[in-house]
Amino acid sequence: MTKSEDTIQLFDQHVIPSYSRKPVVFVRGKGTKIWDADGKVYLDFLAGIAVTGAGHSHPKIIEAIRRQSEQLIHISNLYYHENQALLAKALSELALNGKCFFCNSGAEANEALIKLARLWGHDRNRFEIITMRDSFHGRTLATLTATGQTKIQKGFEPLPAGFVYADFNNLESVKAAITEKTAAILVEAVQGEGGVIPAQPEFLKGLRTLCTEKDILLLCDEVQCGMGRTGHWFAFQAYDIEPDAFSLAKALAGGYPMGAIVAGPKLADVFQPGKHGSTFGGSPLACAVALAMIQIIREEGLLQHATQMGERFKKGLQALVEKYKPYLVEVRGRGLMLGLVLNQPAKTLEARLMDTGLLSLATAENVIRFLPPLNVKQNEVDEAIDIIADTCAEWHAELTGIPLSAEPETEAEAAPAATELPTAPEAQAEPAAQP
Ligand SMILES: Cc1ncc(COP(=O)(O)O)c(C=O)c1O
Repeated sequence: MTKSEDTIQLFDQHVIPSYSRKPVVFVRGKGTKIWDADGKVYLDFLAGIAVTGAGHSHPKIIEAIRRQSEQLIHISNLYYHENQALLAKALSELALNGKCFFCNSGAEANEALIKLARLWGHDRNRFEIITMRDSFHGRTLATLTATGQTKIQKGFEPLPAGFVYADFNNLESVKAAITEKTAAILVEAVQGEGGVIPAQPEFLKGLRTLCTEKDILLLCDEVQCGMGRTGHWFAFQAYDIEPDAFSLAKALAGGYPMGAIVAGPKLADVFQPGKHGSTFGGSPLACAVALAMIQIIREEGLLQHATQMGERFKKGLQALVEKYKPYLVEVRGRGLMLGLVLNQPAKTLEARLMDTGLLSLATAENVIRFLPPLNVKQNEVDEAIDIIADTCAEWHAELTGIPLSAEPETEAEAAPAATELPTAPEAQAEPAAQP
């Protein structure tokens, strides 16, 4: 039995099976690379689903954890400490000029947005929150109800009241969902779990106008698309609009668990003492790591870098779409949040990419989602494209029944002989996994 098989067996015996896991055990990472327990190296183009935004084991993240953990890991929110104030200042200067509340995950951040909207609406006799079909907002009861996907909600009924659904990118559908009870509209500027679908500019701008006209709150879920992922600090900034509040998590502290809401002046003082809380939220340690993450994004110019690498990656993927139509349909997304749309279930291609040493994620049935770290290197983007190209060539040959060697015209370019296919990048050259 290999080391990985040992761990998987132990896992299956003792861990509640709420995830369908891929058969790989990871032991360490550096930058965009990650090693499994058997020494194989992968290019990590998933980054823990948009979490390790500065790559694995960034020296500044390690240093922030080390330094702060030697000093003070946790106090209670009954007391003050400087890190939380500095982080709140930094985030609210990046957008909205308001105030922040800190928690530990995306669901908890969205739960805070929902409670904020409810409390704001309470004296106005408004409590309904409109969310989008195919959105994703988390797994707590309120956030799975906000999530516009029945498959996520099934089995957990009765669901909390007060959520109404509309079609994403369809302003008329949102207008039709508004009632005199509507308190807020919650939306992702780029739907992630829904299949990497960017909001159309008219839609997001239209929502802003609608909310302002009707005194409804506009709330953005930036849990996945925020913190530089789309080449902007926050994805809504590409649309030249501001929500009344937004949620953050995932990459906020570069892999250390943290969530937050940033509320504009209108909502900054709605939560008064006793109205909301979180034991671990905004600890000295979490805030120190998030401050390091903001510093990394600034000092390493990662917003611009994510834009440039995103364009390069998108171009490479688009060339493959041209070559493998109709099996590959289109590339969509913004910055380093990209989806490759297939004309069939994406799980097979995802598994093949993983075998060849590239991590991605099949999403919304027929989309392969790529979320590399913001500091992914140009040669790693090119390497990923090579892996995808080779994998697509093999996959296409199987789908069409045309053997690689017999593929017409573009044979050499589209389908290099199987013996030339690269294995996992640097798989053999890298040192074996450390214990
Ligand atoms: C847009 C969005 N919101 C909320 C969440 C929930 O975040 P968490 O898993 O940290 O609770 C996710 C997670 O994928 C997400 O993508």
